Amino acid sequence: MIGKILGTGSYVPGKVLDNNDLAKFIDTNDEWIRERTGIVKRHLIEDDTTVTMAAEAAKRALENAKVSAEEIDLILLSTVSSNVILPSTACEVQKIIGAVNAVCFDLNAACSGFLFALNTAQAYIHAGMINTALIIGAESLSNIMDWQDRGTAILFGDGAGAAVLAAEEGHIFPTVMHSDGAKGDALLCQSRFRREQSTSLELKSGETDIPGTAGFPVDTYVQMNGQEVFKFAVRQVPLAIEELLSACDKTTEDIDLFVLHQANKRIVEGVAKRLHMDMERFPMNLMEYGNTSSASIPILLDELNRQGRLQKGMKLVLAGFGAGLSWGAAYMEW
Ligand code: UT7
Repeated sequence: MIGKILGTGSYVPGKVLDNNDLAKFIDTNDEWIRERTGIVKRHLIEDDTTVTMAAEAAKRALENAKVSAEEIDLILLSTVSSNVILPSTACEVQKIIGAVNAVCFDLNAACSGFLFALNTAQAYIHAGMINTALIIGAESLSNIMDWQDRGTAILFGDGAGAAVLAAEEGHIFPTVMHSDGAKGDALLCQSRFRREQSTSLELKSGETDIPGTAGFPVDTYVQMNGQEVFKFAVRQVPLAIEELLSACDKTTEDIDLFVLHQANKRIVEGVAKRLHMDMERFPMNLMEYGNTSSASIPILLDELNRQGRLQKGMKLVLAGFGAGLSWGAAYMEW
């Protein structure tokens, strides 16, 4: 069995921050950001949360797939920036959309997250454990930005994307996934949990509060060695795609579209160049949304789908890369 994408959905918040808006409070400018990244604007949450954006993208994907929430067996949600730690973001989405028969859990593989979720759902389907999966990438990265750091604040945006995957007869395609934790320092976001009170758990007679339990994260923001991540992406993503295509017995010429994680226009161009491919096969929407981490691939996929650019039988390669470090690629026939 193989999982086929029956429908897609996405949601981005309405508030837009363009490069000129950013230049009002960071030492940067529109020309630099456009030239070095391709990004023109990004959408940021106001009243939305990771959960509400994920739920909205999920509803749109279900509608597009013509699948009811009750038919979903698995909700697999990728995020690094949820507003909830417990319960999982996936369970919160389940509650909102009424997917009462689904098992739900989250997955953190940063910007490779949607791709890893897709591959995991495929494995569940292939193993005969489930028939229908809802996979979601959702991020409120604006909550974990240091808005004074021009090396990161200019890059990221908020949003969510989703896809409904259903089992059908067919052979599962090989996938490629890699991690290199030893290089994780290049892109990180550390939660520093603070305890407001003593760590002693001894309660004196008459005390109503439990000392040492009032911890919450402070100073949690993304730190990145941009050049290192850039070089890693341009080097590893073409290798992963070549590894994937060879395993699938395909060549780059067979592929209609390469749907890459939307981090930087120059990374996408660098990957295309190393694969000796024309940029026309590398759609981009990072100009509008910036880097939305695990949401970027499903948002782009949904836009292509709704624009009618994905015809039945088209051959796609999806590729993600980011913190971990982690990276990978998947092949699919639409
Ligand atoms: O999902 C994966 C997550 N991350 C990524 O994909 C990020 C990958 N990396 C990148 O996209 C790029 O490395 C950045 C966009 C972050 C930075 O671009 P860069 O071309 O690597 O710039 P740089 O850090 O080498 O800096 C070049 C110059 C420096 O000035 P000097 O020393 O040459 O005078 C920086 O201080 O540009 C300066 N600079 C800026 N100037 C205006 C760095 N950031 C900015 C800025 N605005 N925002």
